Amino acid sequence: MISGFTVAIDGPAASGKGTISKAIAAHFGFAHLDTGLLYRAVGAKVLAGMEPTQAALELVPDDLENDALRTPAVAQEASKVAAIPTVRAALVDFQRSFAARAGGAVLDGRDIGTVICPEAQVKLFVTASADVRASRRFTELSGKGMDVTFEDVLSDVLARDARDMGRVDAPLRPAEDAAQIDTTDMAIADAVAAAVAMIDTKI
Ligand code: DC
Repeated sequence: MISGFTVAIDGPAASGKGTISKAIAAHFGFAHLDTGLLYRAVGAKVLAGMEPTQAALELVPDDLENDALRTPAVAQEASKVAAIPTVRAALVDFQRSFAARAGGAVLDGRDIGTVICPEAQVKLFVTASADVRASRRFTELSGKGMDVTFEDVLSDVLARDARDMGRVDAPLRPAEDAAQIDTTDMAIADAVAAAVAMIDTKI
């Protein structure tokens, strides 16, 4: 069994990193952690009235099993609490333990290759144009019956990009040794195949 093999996948909202991460985890039998869910769970607790750092310190795995974490309001709040250094610090150990688990792990987020797992064996940075990302997110949200417009989704995506890239602590950026995959004009199956090929060379 592979031990301590970590794949770090970072990128902005709706770049395709979540889909690629799940496909890689299924292909190699690795465990998968969507680290955005940690920040979304903290954001949801803050919207319910909790203090952000306290919410992060008290987070339990069950808090991640909640469909309500997928709403645009929670996404925006997640991006806001993610700029608070004490919130980020409270979530580091959980992510690093997950990355070190036996059998291999894929973590996706914004700072996995740069801060959480700088020693990851494979680092990918997944991007796509803001228009394409907003269009994917719009299709996803309206498919779930949410009352959203493309313009609102695009402005949410741009606001989160600016906040996530502009914060002082662990901003969204590619690690120097990350391979970049631009999914703007790429079928997801091709992006997965490229990622699988890269990982195969490192196992
Ligand atoms: O991946 P996502 O869209 O579910 O993430 C929601 C927010 O959480 C994102 O806008 C910024 C924050 N986040 C972060 O700061 N660091 C991570 N590793 C993952 C997410």
